[in-house]
Amino acid sequence: MLDKKVKELINTQINKELYSAYLYLDFANYYYDQGLDGFAHWYDIQAQEERDHAMLMRTYLFNNGETVTFEAIDKPDKTYNSPEDPLRFGLEHEQYVTSLINTIYRAAQDVNDYRTMQCFDWFVKEQGEEEKNADDLIKKFTLFGHDPKGLYALNQELLARVYAAPSLVL
Ligand code: FEO
Repeated sequence: MLDKKVKELINTQINKELYSAYLYLDFANYYYDQGLDGFAHWYDIQAQEERDHAMLMRTYLFNNGETVTFEAIDKPDKTYNSPEDPLRFGLEHEQYVTSLINTIYRAAQDVNDYRTMQCFDWFVKEQGEEEKNADDLIKKFTLFGHDPKGLYALNQELLARVYAAPSLVL
């Protein structure tokens, strides 16, 4: 069994990860509507990764004899006025998720829960990658996205993203 606060934070984080998936699918909906199928594909895969994060945390709770309670997932409420908007919202969102992961890590540290800290080492590292990926997309869009040929090439590049299962084994 885990410390009550640690358990509750992880349970809440499952909901947050599923919301992340929902948000990124909303980004993808926008991009499909704009004819930017590469951007949409990139976020479809990102949504799969978020679901993976949720399932890893769910398994972690089960492996520690805990129950999992699902809550309602919030409706994505963003308005997109340009193809750059979801990219900026994406970086902000990942920075927010990093703060949530750090809070879980700190709570585990406070009660000497080395098992959770070891598990969440992976998520701390993953958040570094998530923020970098989001930032890279913004940089590329700034460089190439405002020219039609550049936007076309960037869309093709993003279309090539391949889903990879998470490297964390529980
Ligand atoms: Fe689950 Fe994008 O972090």
